[in-house]
Amino acid sequence: MTRPLRVAIAGLGTVGGGVANVLLTRGAELAERAGRPLECIMVSARERTKKRAADVSSIAWADDVVSLAKSDADVVVELIGGEDGPARALVQSSLEAGKHVVTANKALLAYHGAQLAALAEERGVALRFEAAAAGGIPIVRALRESLIAYGIGAVRGILNGTCNFILTQMEASGRPFAEVLAEAQALGYAEADPTLDIGGGDTAHKLALLASLAFGIKPDLSNMTIQGIAHITPEDIAFAREFGCRIKLLGIARQTPHGIDQRVQPAMVKLGTPLADIEGAFNVVVADAGEAGPFFFEGRGAGEAPTASAVVADLVDIARGAVGPTFGRPARNLKSGNPAPANSRRSAFYLRFDVLDVPGVLAEIASRLAEGGVSIESMIQRGRAPGEPVAIVMVTHECSETGVAGALKVIVRSDKVLGDPCMIPMEAG
Ligand SMILES: NC(=O)c1ccc[n+]([C@@H]2O[C@H](COP(=O)([O-])OP(=O)(O)OC[C@H]3O[C@@H](n4cnc5c(N)ncnc54)[C@H](OP(=O)(O)O)[C@@H]3O)[C@@H](O)[C@H]2O)c1
Repeated sequence: MTRPLRVAIAGLGTVGGGVANVLLTRGAELAERAGRPLECIMVSARERTKKRAADVSSIAWADDVVSLAKSDADVVVELIGGEDGPARALVQSSLEAGKHVVTANKALLAYHGAQLAALAEERGVALRFEAAAAGGIPIVRALRESLIAYGIGAVRGILNGTCNFILTQMEASGRPFAEVLAEAQALGYAEADPTLDIGGGDTAHKLALLASLAFGIKPDLSNMTIQGIAHITPEDIAFAREFGCRIKLLGIARQTPHGIDQRVQPAMVKLGTPLADIEGAFNVVVADAGEAGPFFFEGRGAGEAPTASAVVADLVDIARGAVGPTFGRPARNLKSGNPAPANSRRSAFYLRFDVLDVPGVLAEIASRLAEGGVSIESMIQRGRAPGEPVAIVMVTHECSETGVAGALKVIVRSDKVLGDPCMIPMEAG
């Protein structure tokens, strides 16, 4: 058998521990598939003495994680996390040293992916990241290699299990966002600092990578609309049901006649469709591959085994000699932006207004919307409570997003309207 592929693992947490375990326990199977053994020659993390799920006592330990770039490894696996700090220093110096890199770090690649991809290509090494978007789902490989014949029209998905878990629980229990988030944190489904997840940032990092693979653009967060789920109420979720929909946090990257539209936001999706029906911490991605049609990918987007599975797939590819460009095209050809302007976005919208139940309020809202070119398809106003707050919800016909947003800015100034209206686009599932 040929020379082993020597692997160094940086980070031995959820993902790194999982990868170490697979390499230590499934060596024969992997060697058969890869055509040569995958040998873990060195590991590093913050605390050497920490009790870990993976028994790495037989593997050399490096105190300085960035020093793995100078080890004898052929591949450095970066599983530390964070867009800068030691993760970036290690990836940068490993590529400079002519080592292949495998990472699960979507934040790093969303910010520095284009530059690191160019460096990898210049040094003739691979920079692989299957685990960075949608965990165990092989969507990176699919967009990079499989669905290329007819081009990609759109990639849409539920890419953050924490948000999907929270929205699923809110629907099942009728409880408000803050309560369900606290429970998710207690159960370990949400981080102590959940900002990146619930604010849409984590989905945005993953979407930037998928958009780059799909459309040949540099990963780009600056041209992305990013909205989280903290403003979604149990009432919105209940009203969504009445319109035959479910609210999901979607990442959407779409080629339009006006440019590429990239956005992360809650959307109303029709029940009975793949995007609506995915529950709990699962992920789903729908890739529209031109004449080849839509493809649906569903599975676990996080956790030790799914993520380790994706990292190991990248390692086996590298062991076989795969050194293609990181984002499926030469890094020098990746284009900057070409964002679709906000005023080109059109959709139907769900709108919720909390108003005082007084005569004329509905007419006032309807006429302001009409002035913005927005017409109403259906409406629900439940119960009457003269002089008290009530909710009015409506679904518009397809209209311009800037038209609706402009009308809401006027409506919110009315003394009959309480707080900010909620505006959620309707999205095909
Ligand atoms: N968890 C998932 O399900 C998942 C899914 C997809 C992608 N990812 C990505 O995978 C990466 C790792 O995530 P994770 O969940 O495995 O994280 P984690 O459990 O927090 O593990 C991080 C590891 O990095 C080490 N580390 C942190 N700072 C360090 C430093 N300054 N120097 C040396 N080592 C340091 C930690 O060392 P100690 O153990 O000694 O503290 C730990 O072993 C992240 O980029 C994440 O976004 C995770």
